[in-house]
Amino acid sequence: MPSLESPASTYTTRELSMKTWPDFVRLFSQGSGWDFCQCMHFHRPRSLPRDQWLRTRAERGVRNRRQKRALVEQGCAHGILVYAKGEPVGWCQYGMREELPRIDNKRIYRGLAPDSTQKLWRITCFAVLKPYRKRGVASAALQAALESIRRKGGGLVEAYPITRWLSRAFGNESTHGSESMFMKAGFKAVAPFGSTRFSSHVVMRKTI
Ligand SMILES: CC(C)(COP(=O)(O)OP(=O)(O)OC[C@H]1O[C@@H](n2cnc3c(N)ncnc32)[C@H](O)[C@@H]1OP(=O)(O)O)[C@@H](O)C(=O)NCCC(=O)NCCS
Repeated sequence: MPSLESPASTYTTRELSMKTWPDFVRLFSQGSGWDFCQCMHFHRPRSLPRDQWLRTRAERGVRNRRQKRALVEQGCAHGILVYAKGEPVGWCQYGMREELPRIDNKRIYRGLAPDSTQKLWRITCFAVLKPYRKRGVASAALQAALESIRRKGGGLVEAYPITRWLSRAFGNESTHGSESMFMKAGFKAVAPFGSTRFSSHVVMRKTI
């Protein structure tokens, strides 16, 4: 368990690659409620056709892990793993627009896509193990993701965080992270991104 005060320096970060793949697998095998996803959702342009649906979350988890691994092998999946005392405790997914196309097909996003000549990056997902939440893990992941994007040439970076928690439930809606962490990183809100029963979201951008 982390101490109550966990400064960002407590954590180390590493890029997702075939070297860190076993750590990704470890993080996404803890029965945390998001193991089924393996952070594949935003890689797909839309839901799979009905004839490819699987019955259980466990089956979906196996398929998603296989597909995620293939993307990592091809260099088409990017993300940051956050470690505390050598153990993976958090994750942030980022990537080029083409790697994370699902956002483009959301109705609320229509008309918001920037000029296609501009290099567009997306930061779509965070996942932090429960005992480590509210201790700066997601913020550390965000800083590392931005640094990686800068090293890869930068561009316009887009995110879709929560602005308002409409319920005490803090489930998968929070995958996009919170507005405050992006504000602190210098992002500006550009448009609403819809509401669910649990949360309201906003599109935020920053050029780096
Ligand atoms: C959302 C989540 C990523 C936040 O991670 P975290 O490491 O706790 O975030 P941080 O400690 O870096 O905090 C970042 C900001 O978010 C805020 N925040 C974090 N949890 C919050 C909560 N439950 N309610 C309101 N704000 C919250 C923090 O207060 C902080 O803002 P501040 O700097 O203004 O104080 C984490 O709760 C999580 O993993 N939730 C589950 C997400 C999920 O299901 N992902 C997988 C989907 S398939």
